[in-house]
Amino acid sequence: MEKIRYELKETAGKVTLPDSLGFGQVFTDHLFEMDYDSKKGWHNPVIKPVQNISMHPATMFIHYGQSIFEGMKAFRNDDGDIVMFRPEEHIARLNRSAKRICIPEVDEQFLLNVLKEIITIDKDWIPAKEGESLYIRPFIYGSDSFLGVKVASEYKLIILLSPVGAYYSEGFKPVKIQVQDDYVRAVRKGLGECKCPANYAASLLAAEEARKKGFSQVLWLDAVELKYIEEVGTMNIFIRFKDEVATPELTGGILPGITRKSVIQILKDMGEKISERLISIDEVVNEYKKGNVLEIFGTGTAAIISSVGWLKYKDMEMVFNNGQPGELAVKLFDEITSIQYGRKEDTNNWITYVIKQGVEVL
Ligand code: COI
Repeated sequence: MEKIRYELKETAGKVTLPDSLGFGQVFTDHLFEMDYDSKKGWHNPVIKPVQNISMHPATMFIHYGQSIFEGMKAFRNDDGDIVMFRPEEHIARLNRSAKRICIPEVDEQFLLNVLKEIITIDKDWIPAKEGESLYIRPFIYGSDSFLGVKVASEYKLIILLSPVGAYYSEGFKPVKIQVQDDYVRAVRKGLGECKCPANYAASLLAAEEARKKGFSQVLWLDAVELKYIEEVGTMNIFIRFKDEVATPELTGGILPGITRKSVIQILKDMGEKISERLISIDEVVNEYKKGNVLEIFGTGTAAIISSVGWLKYKDMEMVFNNGQPGELAVKLFDEITSIQYGRKEDTNNWITYVIKQGVEVL
């Protein structure tokens, strides 16, 4: 792989972060960009100031959606070191998404080094307040201009960095969810397990209709039978039954979340009974009626853990833990954030150092 070219901003480092960051509104000084064509493969890697993209109106991904993305995080931990959470997992998932929609894969070790480089360059943008982090958004899109439907022959990979606070405006407050039994998000053997814009576009109308009725998000059912629960909003979902914690098995219609994977491992480490299996909405309702559903929560990179306080399915309204965050949700949030902020030993090797004791770790 070619060496990265650096075109750094002169005013870099003069950073004033707003008091309240929200999510995805503030961007750092630099981005990483790299091109692909069939002759040179991935080439022309550069770190340069964040700037607009100029493109031909026939650029292929705009019309046919051949595009993928990732979302991961870096943290300024309690020792002042800069760390990333499970970046190898995110890079591997980027390549799995790439494969699914015919995008050329990237060299995983190279991309990890790129991440360390750009995070180090923009390190002053990494917030230090509790609950804040640097959200990292790599994305790839088909960039040649052509109006026929085919696999693109040119691509761009860009990495944007954004200092963030809480994803939901509710913060850690439990959210109100409507079970969506009309529209579907994604279908197994379709793009459900691929992190691509199409799945998010498919979710918007349902989310918007739910929002107008006072819900924060929807719970998606499987697209074949509208029977099994799949995801909650943009997150994976976990149900804590009386004698088991369960999460939908990865049928192909569900995004294989890195936080989902981490939560499963933590539950195993805690000695909890955790099952990955089909969970029907009828099972949730029936067990709720018997008093056997103790809590429901979503997992994802952006919000980490989000408790479901209320769930509405047809005429049935379910309330969990009196609308307060569930005990297990709080425990898991503390566990994951403690690892991310360096308060707890990283026994599963989930932390990758970017800067340790002031020195870049390459
Ligand atoms: C997540 O990280 O939980 C998400 O999927 C949200 C992201 C697309 C903004």
